[in-house]
Amino acid sequence: MTAALKLTRLRRLEQFNARLEELGIALPIDPEIEAAGPLAAPLEIADRRVGNRFCALPMEGWDATRDGRPTELVRRRWRRFGESGAKLIWGGEAYAIEPKGRANPNQLAFNPESEGDLAELRGALVAAHEARCGDSSDLLIGLQLTHSGRFSRPYGTPAPRTAFRDPVLDERVGIDSDAALLSDAELDELIGGYPTVARLARNAGFAFVDIKACHGYLGHELLSARERPGPYGGDLAGRSRFLLRAIQAVRDEAPELAIGVRLSIFDLGPFRGGEDGVGQAEPTTQRPFGSGVGGGLGGGAGGGAGEVDLCETHALVVALREAGVTLLCTTAGSPYYNPHTQRPAFYPPSDGYEMPEDPLVGVARQLHATAEVKRRHPELCVVGSAYSYLQEWLPHVAQAVVRQGKADLIGLGRMMLSYPELPRDVLAGRPLQRSLICRTFSDCTSAPRNGLVSGCYPLDAFYKRRPEASSLAEAKRRTRGAEL
Ligand SMILES: Cc1cc2nc3c(=O)[nH]c(=O)nc-3n(C[C@H](O)[C@H](O)[C@H](O)COP(=O)(O)O)c2cc1C
Ligand code: SF4
Repeated sequence: MTAALKLTRLRRLEQFNARLEELGIALPIDPEIEAAGPLAAPLEIADRRVGNRFCALPMEGWDATRDGRPTELVRRRWRRFGESGAKLIWGGEAYAIEPKGRANPNQLAFNPESEGDLAELRGALVAAHEARCGDSSDLLIGLQLTHSGRFSRPYGTPAPRTAFRDPVLDERVGIDSDAALLSDAELDELIGGYPTVARLARNAGFAFVDIKACHGYLGHELLSARERPGPYGGDLAGRSRFLLRAIQAVRDEAPELAIGVRLSIFDLGPFRGGEDGVGQAEPTTQRPFGSGVGGGLGGGAGGGAGEVDLCETHALVVALREAGVTLLCTTAGSPYYNPHTQRPAFYPPSDGYEMPEDPLVGVARQLHATAEVKRRHPELCVVGSAYSYLQEWLPHVAQAVVRQGKADLIGLGRMMLSYPELPRDVLAGRPLQRSLICRTFSDCTSAPRNGLVSGCYPLDAFYKRRPEASSLAEAKRRTRGAEL
């Protein structure tokens, strides 16, 4: 293990570069930020002009009503996405195509009021954008459609529905029989949920939908269903059939919508804290989508973990293009079984493990894999993720990535919670507001893991003042106590 070093200690570019060298990784980085430079350049997506290269990634808040409708907390988050100045809004947040497919009881989900709710959320975001940024004609907004599959928890306790048996992950969600397995007929039926919600999204004014295939949820897990017999498993054609059929169903129902896919382009399999609390790869018989042994992108952190292998990823991206997908948002792994892969952080979430690597390694892994996808599929609009850990260096790396064509847009996740105005500050040539920079404390993940609404409790004054802040502090103390 390479001990992580606090990024705030690397204040000069030479120090940052020296650290990268020490870790044996490279990141594109521009020494100076040009306000009117690459990040401010508009681009064409799906016949629409998108005004700059910042994208608000989907960020759910575990804060909808129990019947899947937005609350004031949801509306506030969407308004802040609008105020950020980012011109691409990737999905807003996960929207379950059916209530049983929610990852938690407070996730937005299809319900009789969906169309009006979606129009209202989108309208609030656009109004906030116009109030801060003026023009919204170059703002592109999509909705993320999901089914949580193995990680479904619609009524507060695990209610997993899986693509296949997996001894390691089954144990984590309490599966001990085949009852949780989705049949082919059930998958056929679930596909029908995507066009239903897509139609409502179209009616509500969304420009695209994301058929989510990442983070261990159903659309992603199916991509690893190597041993599953029948039409939805086996070779890549079988494993991607669900995703491709859902895309086709949406295109048939709402041809005006552009189609995006948020894809975990690689995975390193499940991790668990060892005796010292540091994450270790768990021995598993499964080979997740986008992983191999001895691939070229340095995935192996923690001993025995899979390596990044993009061969199948490239083949899938070709199939997605042929199916009419024009936007790809790259991400990796899963927040449930390898959070350090998915959202590199200095501080682990309360149910996580100590980082098995310097989080910069995790950032570099996603960035390089994304660059490789963009290089091989230049015609596709590619949005990268996992930039928040870069903190003060984020704009420098982001600008270099876009300038060098390693991604078209820079996705911001956690930074959107702590410091949504970052894009506006960067594009206006203003210095960053240091007190708002996400330091990856992981409270926005720990809160929902403890049954509380998500938010940036450490840095967003609004959440600091909420009663949940002390419940979260107490829950974190309990977890630390249990570890001693
Ligand atoms: C609180 C929280 C909520 C999230 N919600 C979603 C979501 O609804 N859909 C999704 O695809 N990813 C979700 N993510 C993942 C982020 O979009 C993003 O991939 C991740 O945080 C890494 O990007 P970052 O380094 O900019 O934070 C969430 C992450 C966090 C921390
Ligand atoms: S709680 Fe705030 S500072 Fe911590 S990871 Fe989330 S957004 Fe970043």
